[in-house]
Amino acid sequence: MPLDLEMLRTAFPGRKIVWLDTCESTMTEGARLAREGCPSGTVVIAEEQSAGQGRYRRQWHSERESGLYVSIVLRLGLPVESARVLSMALGLAVGETIARAADVRCDLRWPNDVLIGDKKCAGILVQVEGDSLIAGIGVNVNHESLPPELEVKATSLRVACGRPVSREMLLLHLLGTVDSFARMLAEGGREPVLKMFARNSTCVSGKRVTVEQGGKLIEGVTDGLDPSGFLYLKKPDGTRITILAGGVRPVRDAN
Ligand code: BTN
Repeated sequence: MPLDLEMLRTAFPGRKIVWLDTCESTMTEGARLAREGCPSGTVVIAEEQSAGQGRYRRQWHSERESGLYVSIVLRLGLPVESARVLSMALGLAVGETIARAADVRCDLRWPNDVLIGDKKCAGILVQVEGDSLIAGIGVNVNHESLPPELEVKATSLRVACGRPVSREMLLLHLLGTVDSFARMLAEGGREPVLKMFARNSTCVSGKRVTVEQGGKLIEGVTDGLDPSGFLYLKKPDGTRITILAGGVRPVRDAN
């Protein structure tokens, strides 16, 4: 069934909410609206995306009427360098949304994957468009299964909880939590967001991980976040390096 947005429109009167039956990507729609001067907080929601964008130019699987595919145009007066910490704030917002609306506890994998157990259930993409940041959020909600190439590393709320979850309730909580975490960053700066991220992620400190860097895998133990939100990694030789980007994966014990 398509989304019923009546509750959302009532809870957020005056908010520009654009619903699309289908589109290539809500990111391009959000960027277009931002260029046209739409108000900050404008939300674009699609039932499906034919070219959903993930990080690192990956495709985001966007099954019709199963997930949440949302982009929010934010004009927070933040410098472009804050996009990374905003994406971490959005990870916190999505984790809190899922806890409230679906009663499931999520983990956060640096920089912004939202996990249930060790499987990803939501992803975040932030793009800069002029003076706006476009916050893209994809949540696997009611997918009964995921394509074979994804199911080893991804899940949906329905698969994880064994019951369907209301996309309307998720959206309702999502807009509220995104507003409050964006405010936390705009008013309080990076520090409170990074502290909260570290508290809500099992991967930020003391976790043995491999990180992909320039096509090579580096192994080490995570050692906290630097003031810009980059990840410190302690290598087996004792040196500490800063990870600027790249997939962080836990090292599984051999037995
Ligand atoms: C990731 O790779 O983890 C980020 C995925 C972001 C997906 C969302 S779905 C809504 C918005 N529109 C897109 O095309 N991508 C983002």
